[in-house]
Amino acid sequence: IAGFLCQWCSYAGADLAGTSRFSYPANVRPIRVMCSGRVDPSFIINAFKQGIDGVLVSGCHLGDCHYVSGNLSAKKMVKSTKKLLKILGLNPRRLRLEWISASEGQKFANIMKDFTSKLTKIGPNPLKNKSEKKDSKIERESFSDIIEKTNIRLCLECGKCSSSCPITRMNPDFSPRKTVRKVLTGDNGTPFMDESIWNCLTC
Ligand code: FES
Repeated sequence: IAGFLCQWCSYAGADLAGTSRFSYPANVRPIRVMCSGRVDPSFIINAFKQGIDGVLVSGCHLGDCHYVSGNLSAKKMVKSTKKLLKILGLNPRRLRLEWISASEGQKFANIMKDFTSKLTKIGPNPLKNKSEKKDSKIERESFSDIIEKTNIRLCLECGKCSSSCPITRMNPDFSPRKTVRKVLTGDNGTPFMDESIWNCLTC
């Protein structure tokens, strides 16, 4: 399990679980990020592509984010990334979001136990081992094919379209990057109903 933990709350919570000697399965690899809002869908997709069984994104409780609203962005991001995983043929329950404060070492340990047992029931990531079974091989190939063919990861990652967009400069509410994410995840219905998308064709 890859655990993206915000440094101010959840990482400290994981640390507390360790120093308090609460036992939990040893299969989580904590990755410290400044805020749960820093976690990008491309981090999650890359983790699954590399064969990780589950991804935990964890941050401060709502209202406690040290960057005000980073965890609200994380909440939206996890919701849309779950849809993306479904499109790519992975069980969305492999991705989990939790709020864990620095004083909740026991909660961290409990969540890791629960997540591990749920992932055990779901089974190994079909992308992990090509030789697992024929179906998994097909799934792995189609997953990689989709990523390569669509360059989906690049579209979620660089943000160059938004940073160079003359309309975004005048109107920060308009973001080509967000539009791409909406198209990929089907977020908020169809973005084609939003007439601002036509601006992208006139630049
Ligand atoms: Fe912890 Fe933002 S600082 S979630």
